[in-house]
Amino acid sequence: MASNLVTSSTTALFSFLVLYLAVSFSNIAAKHRHSTTTSVHHPHHRDLDASNPRLKQAYLALQAWKLVIYSDPYNTTSDWVGPSVCNYTGIYCAPFPNDTDILTVAGIDLNHADIAGFLPDELGLLSDLSLIHLNSNRFCGVLPLSLSNLTFLFELDLSNNRFVGPFPSVLMSLPSLKFLDLRYNEFEGPLPPELFNRDLDAIFINNNRLTSVIPSNLGSTTASVVVFANNNLGGCLPPSIANFANTMEELLLINTNLSGCLPPEVGFLYKLRVLDVSSNKLVGEIPYSIAGLAQLEQLNLGHNMMSGEVPLGVCELPNLANFTFSYNYFFEEEGLCGNLTLKGIVSDDRRNCLPNKPLQRSKKECDPVLEHPVDCYEHPCGDKNTEENHT
Ligand SMILES: *[C@@H]1O[C@H](CO)[C@@H](O)[C@H](O)[C@H]1NC(C)=O
Ligand SMILES: *[C@@H]1O[C@H](CO)[C@@H](O)[C@H](O)[C@H]1NC(C)=O
Ligand SMILES: *[C@@H]1O[C@H](CO)[C@@H](O)[C@H](O)[C@H]1NC(C)=O
Ligand SMILES: *[C@@H]1O[C@H](CO)[C@@H](O)[C@H](O)[C@H]1NC(C)=O
Ligand SMILES: *[C@@H]1O[C@H](CO)[C@@H](O)[C@H](O)[C@H]1NC(C)=O
Ligand SMILES: *[C@@H]1O[C@H](CO)[C@@H](O)[C@H](O)[C@H]1NC(C)=O
Ligand SMILES: *[C@@H]1O[C@H](CO)[C@@H](O)[C@H](O)[C@H]1NC(C)=O
Repeated sequence: MASNLVTSSTTALFSFLVLYLAVSFSNIAAKHRHSTTTSVHHPHHRDLDASNPRLKQAYLALQAWKLVIYSDPYNTTSDWVGPSVCNYTGIYCAPFPNDTDILTVAGIDLNHADIAGFLPDELGLLSDLSLIHLNSNRFCGVLPLSLSNLTFLFELDLSNNRFVGPFPSVLMSLPSLKFLDLRYNEFEGPLPPELFNRDLDAIFINNNRLTSVIPSNLGSTTASVVVFANNNLGGCLPPSIANFANTMEELLLINTNLSGCLPPEVGFLYKLRVLDVSSNKLVGEIPYSIAGLAQLEQLNLGHNMMSGEVPLGVCELPNLANFTFSYNYFFEEEGLCGNLTLKGIVSDDRRNCLPNKPLQRSKKECDPVLEHPVDCYEHPCGDKNTEENHT
C-alpha cells in the first residue's frame, strides 16, 4: 500500500515537474512526452556549434562520466560519442533560460539503465541541469561536491542505486531543489536538520541506513510527502512535527525504530491523507487529536506496542478507508470501531488484547502491558526520560 501511494505521488510530482519545465526548459518536457519523435531543437540554436561553451563543457563532463561507467548492459551510453551531446541517449537539451538562443544540457534521464559506475567531479560542469533521473542503476560511491554548481537543479532522483556515505550535504546548498528521491541506497548516519528547513516539495529517503529522528528544532517546512520508512531513526517523533502542518499530506515512518508516544501534535497535520507509523516501538494511547484529521484516508498503527482504547472519533473520520491497528495491545474498541466493515472501512484489529475478538494475544502477553499503562503526558518527546523509559 505504502509503495503504491509513493508511486502515485511521484507520478503526480512528475506531472507537475513537466509543467514546470514546460515553463523554464520547454524542450525537455516535449522530449519526455514524445521521446521517440525527432529532435526538438530549432536549427538556429548553436547546438552543434563548437562556439557554444555550455555544450563544450557538457561534452567534457559526459565523456568524463563515460570513462567511469564500468557496465552498461543495454548500451545506453554507446552513442555518447562526438560533440553533439544533445543527441546522446538520456541527455536532454533545452534553451538556456537567460538566453533562449543558446542550447544547454537541462536534463539527464537514465532511469532503469542498469549502468554501473560512479559520478565524477566533472558533472559539476553541467551547471544548467534542472533534472537528473538515475533511478534503478548501479551507481556507487559518494556524490561529488561539485554538484553544488547545479543551481537550477529542481528534481534529483537517485533512487535504487548503491550510493554510500553520509547524507549528501552538498544537496542542501542547491537553491532550486524541490524534489529529492534518495530511497533504496546505502546512505548512513544522521539526517542534516537543514533538510527540514529547505523549501522541498517531497523528500523520499526510505530504505537507507539513516539515523536520528526529525530534529526537535524543526522550522516550518513545505514538503507534502515525506517518506522515512526503513531507516533507523530511533527516538520519538517530536512535537515539532506540527511544523509540517500547512503542507504535509503523507507521512510514512514505517520501520524506523521510532519509540515513545505519538505526540498529540500529529493531529495538527490537518492535510494528512496517509499516516503510517507501523512496525516501530510506539507505546501509549492513540492521541485523540487524530480524530481531527478530516482528510485522513489511510491510518496504519500496526506492529507497535500501543495500548488503551481505539477512540470512536478516529473511526468516524469521514474519509477513512483503511485503518490498521493489528499487533498492538489495544484493549477496547469504542462503538463502531469494533466493526468498521459496517462503515465500509478496511480494518485489521488482530493480535491485540480485545475481549470477544478472535485472533487476539494471550492473557499472558496482555497482562504485563495492561498493568503498566504508559502515561504519555508524563513523558512527552523531548523529555530526556522518555526514551529510557520506553525502549
Ligand atoms: C551491446 O553492444 C555489444 C557490443 O557491441 C553487443 O554485443 C550487445 O549485444 C549489445 N547489447 C544490447 C542489449 O544491445
Ligand atoms: C543529431 O540528431 C539529428 C536528428 O536526429 C540528426 O539530424 C543529426 O545528424 C544528429 N547529429 C549528429 C552529429 O549525429
Ligand atoms: C540569469 O538571469 C538572472 C536574472 O536576470 C540572474 O540573476 C542570474 O544570475 C542569471 N543566471 C545565469 C546563470 O546567468
Ligand atoms: C561550475 O559551472 C561553471 C559554468 O557554469 C564552470 O565554469 C565551473 O567550472 C563549474 N565548476 C565545477 C566545480 O564544476
Ligand atoms: C533504535 O533506536 C535506539 C534509540 O532510541 C537505539 O538505542 C537502538 O540501537 C536502535 N535500534 C536498532 C535496532 O538499531
Ligand atoms: C490496508 O492497509 C494495510 C496496511 O497499510 C495494507 O496492508 C492493506 O493492503 C490495505 N488494504 C486495502 C484494501 O487497501
Ligand atoms: C460486522 O458487520 C458485518 C456486516 O453487518 C457482519 O457481517 C459482521 O459479522 C460483523 N462483524 C462483527 C465482528 O461483529
